[in-house]
Amino acid sequence: MLTFFLIVLEIIILMGLGIAFLLLGLPLLFTGAPFMPSYRKNRKDVLDGLLVIAKKENVKKIVDIGSGDGRVVIEFARQGFESYGIEFNPLLVWYSRYKIKRENLKNAHIIRGDFWKINLSQYDLVYLFQLNYVNALLTDKFKKELKTGAIIASAGFPMFDFDLIKQEGIFWVYRR
Ligand SMILES: C[S@@+](CC[C@H](N)C(=O)[O-])C[C@H]1O[C@@H](n2cnc3c(N)ncnc32)[C@H](O)[C@@H]1O
Repeated sequence: MLTFFLIVLEIIILMGLGIAFLLLGLPLLFTGAPFMPSYRKNRKDVLDGLLVIAKKENVKKIVDIGSGDGRVVIEFARQGFESYGIEFNPLLVWYSRYKIKRENLKNAHIIRGDFWKINLSQYDLVYLFQLNYVNALLTDKFKKELKTGAIIASAGFPMFDFDLIKQEGIFWVYRR
Protein backbone atom coordinates (compact mmCIF):
# COMPACT_ATOMS: atom_id res chain seq x y z
CA MET A 1 0.00 0.00 0.00
CA LEU A 2 2.81 2.38 0.95
CA THR A 3 4.67 1.53 -2.29
CA PHE A 4 1.55 2.30 -4.34
CA PHE A 5 1.14 5.62 -2.55
CA LEU A 6 4.80 6.51 -3.19
CA ILE A 7 4.49 5.67 -6.90
CA VAL A 8 1.39 7.88 -7.24
CA LEU A 9 3.18 10.68 -5.38
CA GLU A 10 6.18 10.34 -7.68
CA ILE A 11 3.94 10.54 -10.77
CA ILE A 12 2.24 13.68 -9.42
CA ILE A 13 5.62 15.30 -8.70
CA LEU A 14 6.92 14.44 -12.19
CA MET A 15 3.77 15.86 -13.80
CA GLY A 16 4.19 19.04 -11.72
CA LEU A 17 7.81 19.35 -12.84
CA GLY A 18 6.73 18.81 -16.47
CA ILE A 19 4.16 21.60 -16.28
CA ALA A 20 6.64 23.89 -14.51
CA PHE A 21 9.15 23.25 -17.30
CA LEU A 22 6.54 24.01 -19.98
CA LEU A 23 5.66 27.31 -18.33
CA LEU A 24 9.05 28.47 -17.08
CA GLY A 25 11.87 26.58 -18.79
CA LEU A 26 10.70 26.35 -22.40
CA PRO A 27 10.58 30.11 -23.08
CA LEU A 28 14.26 30.47 -22.19
CA LEU A 29 15.14 28.20 -25.12
CA PHE A 30 13.47 30.75 -27.42
CA THR A 31 14.87 33.97 -25.95
CA GLY A 32 11.82 35.32 -24.23
CA ALA A 33 10.38 35.79 -20.78
CA PRO A 34 8.71 32.87 -18.97
CA PHE A 35 4.98 33.12 -18.34
CA MET A 36 3.93 35.75 -15.87
CA PRO A 37 0.85 37.88 -16.55
CA SER A 38 1.39 41.64 -16.72
CA TYR A 39 -1.54 42.24 -14.35
CA ARG A 40 -3.81 40.25 -12.07
CA LYS A 41 -7.22 39.10 -13.36
CA ASN A 42 -9.16 41.50 -11.14
CA ARG A 43 -6.92 44.45 -12.13
CA LYS A 44 -7.69 44.81 -15.84
CA ASP A 45 -8.15 48.55 -15.12
CA VAL A 46 -4.33 48.59 -15.44
CA LEU A 47 -4.96 48.68 -19.20
CA ASP A 48 -7.34 51.67 -19.09
CA GLY A 49 -4.76 54.38 -19.82
CA LEU A 50 -3.24 52.36 -22.63
CA LEU A 51 -6.68 51.74 -24.19
CA VAL A 52 -7.31 55.51 -24.16
CA ILE A 53 -4.01 56.11 -25.98
CA ALA A 54 -4.77 53.33 -28.50
CA LYS A 55 -8.18 54.85 -29.31
CA LYS A 56 -6.74 58.36 -29.58
CA GLU A 57 -4.01 57.11 -31.92
CA ASN A 58 -6.64 55.41 -34.11
CA VAL A 59 -5.15 51.94 -33.56
CA LYS A 60 -7.08 49.15 -35.30
CA LYS A 61 -4.90 46.07 -35.06
CA ILE A 62 -2.84 45.08 -32.04
CA VAL A 63 -0.50 42.18 -31.24
CA ASP A 64 0.77 40.92 -27.89
CA ILE A 65 4.11 39.22 -28.54
CA GLY A 66 4.36 36.41 -25.99
CA SER A 67 0.64 36.53 -25.20
CA GLY A 68 0.68 34.11 -22.25
CA ASP A 69 -2.84 33.11 -21.21
CA GLY A 70 -4.35 35.63 -23.65
CA ARG A 71 -5.71 38.10 -21.11
CA VAL A 72 -4.36 41.17 -22.93
CA VAL A 73 -5.51 39.91 -26.34
CA ILE A 74 -8.97 39.25 -24.91
CA GLU A 75 -9.27 42.63 -23.19
CA PHE A 76 -8.31 44.53 -26.37
CA ALA A 77 -10.79 42.40 -28.35
CA ARG A 78 -13.55 43.17 -25.85
CA GLN A 79 -12.86 46.86 -26.50
CA GLY A 80 -13.35 46.35 -30.25
CA PHE A 81 -9.75 46.14 -31.50
CA GLU A 82 -8.66 43.47 -33.99
CA SER A 83 -6.52 41.62 -31.50
CA TYR A 84 -3.73 39.07 -32.00
CA GLY A 85 -1.39 37.19 -29.70
CA ILE A 86 1.76 35.28 -30.60
CA GLU A 87 2.65 32.51 -28.16
CA PHE A 88 4.74 29.38 -28.63
CA ASN A 89 3.82 27.55 -25.42
CA PRO A 90 1.20 24.98 -26.51
CA LEU A 91 -0.47 24.86 -23.11
CA LEU A 92 -0.99 28.64 -23.04
CA VAL A 93 -2.09 28.68 -26.70
CA TRP A 94 -4.72 26.06 -25.95
CA TYR A 95 -5.94 27.89 -22.84
CA SER A 96 -6.13 31.30 -24.56
CA ARG A 97 -8.06 29.84 -27.49
CA TYR A 98 -10.42 28.10 -25.08
CA LYS A 99 -11.16 31.42 -23.32
CA ILE A 100 -11.65 33.22 -26.66
CA LYS A 101 -14.08 30.55 -27.82
CA ARG A 102 -15.96 30.66 -24.52
CA GLU A 103 -16.58 34.39 -25.04
CA ASN A 104 -17.19 33.93 -28.77
CA LEU A 105 -14.78 36.76 -29.59
CA LYS A 106 -14.45 36.83 -33.37
CA ASN A 107 -11.80 39.58 -33.29
CA ALA A 108 -9.32 37.75 -31.01
CA HIS A 109 -6.74 35.37 -32.50
CA ILE A 110 -3.80 33.42 -31.11
CA ILE A 111 -0.95 32.55 -33.46
CA ARG A 112 1.11 29.62 -32.24
CA GLY A 113 4.75 30.43 -32.97
CA ASP A 114 7.99 32.17 -32.14
CA PHE A 115 7.59 35.95 -32.31
CA TRP A 116 11.19 36.30 -33.55
CA LYS A 117 10.15 34.53 -36.74
CA ILE A 118 6.91 36.44 -37.34
CA ASN A 119 6.83 39.73 -39.23
CA LEU A 120 5.09 42.50 -37.30
CA SER A 121 4.61 45.06 -40.07
CA GLN A 122 0.80 44.77 -40.21
CA TYR A 123 0.16 45.86 -36.61
CA ASP A 124 -0.65 49.38 -35.37
CA LEU A 125 0.26 48.56 -31.77
CA VAL A 126 2.70 46.01 -30.38
CA TYR A 127 2.26 45.04 -26.73
CA LEU A 128 4.99 43.22 -24.84
CA PHE A 129 5.84 42.10 -21.34
CA GLN A 130 9.30 40.64 -21.71
CA LEU A 131 12.60 41.13 -19.90
CA ASN A 132 15.06 43.99 -20.12
CA TYR A 133 17.56 42.09 -22.27
CA VAL A 134 14.79 40.81 -24.58
CA ASN A 135 13.55 44.40 -25.08
CA ALA A 136 17.08 45.42 -26.02
CA LEU A 137 17.30 42.58 -28.55
CA LEU A 138 13.90 43.52 -30.00
CA THR A 139 15.03 47.05 -30.93
CA ASP A 140 16.44 45.98 -34.31
CA LYS A 141 13.43 43.83 -35.18
CA PHE A 142 11.04 46.69 -34.38
CA LYS A 143 13.10 49.17 -36.41
CA LYS A 144 13.12 46.84 -39.41
CA GLU A 145 9.50 45.69 -39.31
CA LEU A 146 7.19 48.16 -37.59
CA LYS A 147 5.52 50.77 -39.76
CA THR A 148 6.26 54.42 -39.05
CA GLY A 149 3.84 55.68 -36.40
CA ALA A 150 3.17 52.24 -34.91
CA ILE A 151 2.79 52.23 -31.12
CA ILE A 152 4.96 50.08 -28.86
CA ALA A 153 3.59 49.43 -25.36
CA SER A 154 6.10 47.74 -23.10
CA ALA A 155 4.92 46.56 -19.68
CA GLY A 156 7.41 46.50 -16.84
CA PHE A 157 10.56 47.47 -18.74
CA PRO A 158 11.49 50.37 -21.01
CA MET A 159 12.50 50.06 -24.67
CA PHE A 160 15.50 51.75 -26.23
CA ASP A 161 15.87 54.16 -29.16
CA PHE A 162 12.20 55.02 -29.72
CA ASP A 163 10.28 58.24 -29.03
CA LEU A 164 8.52 58.00 -25.68
CA ILE A 165 4.89 59.15 -25.96
CA LYS A 166 4.04 58.62 -22.32
CA GLN A 167 4.87 56.58 -19.27
CA GLU A 168 1.43 55.33 -18.28
CA GLY A 169 1.12 53.17 -15.15
CA ILE A 170 3.21 50.04 -15.74
CA PHE A 171 3.68 50.91 -19.43
CA TRP A 172 6.31 52.68 -21.43
CA VAL A 173 4.52 53.78 -24.60
CA TYR A 174 6.57 54.66 -27.68
CA ARG A 175 6.08 55.61 -31.29
CA ARG A 176 8.08 53.92 -34.02
C1 LIG B 1 5.90 37.59 -19.06
S1 LIG B 1 4.79 36.60 -20.06
C2 LIG B 1 3.65 37.84 -20.64
C3 LIG B 1 2.26 37.31 -20.91
C4 LIG B 1 1.27 38.33 -21.45
N1 LIG B 1 1.81 39.09 -22.55
C5 LIG B 1 0.83 39.30 -20.39
O1 LIG B 1 1.26 40.46 -20.44
O2 LIG B 1 0.08 38.91 -19.48
C6 LIG B 1 5.82 36.27 -21.47
C7 LIG B 1 5.24 35.25 -22.44
O3 LIG B 1 6.05 35.24 -23.61
C8 LIG B 1 6.10 33.90 -24.10
N2 LIG B 1 7.29 33.82 -24.98
C9 LIG B 1 8.58 33.96 -24.59
N3 LIG B 1 9.39 33.89 -25.66
C10 LIG B 1 8.59 33.72 -26.75
C11 LIG B 1 8.85 33.61 -28.14
N4 LIG B 1 10.10 33.69 -28.63
N5 LIG B 1 7.80 33.45 -28.98
C12 LIG B 1 6.51 33.39 -28.50
N6 LIG B 1 6.22 33.50 -27.18
C13 LIG B 1 7.23 33.68 -26.31
C14 LIG B 1 6.15 33.05 -22.85
O4 LIG B 1 5.73 31.72 -23.08
C15 LIG B 1 5.21 33.83 -21.93
O5 LIG B 1 3.90 33.34 -22.03
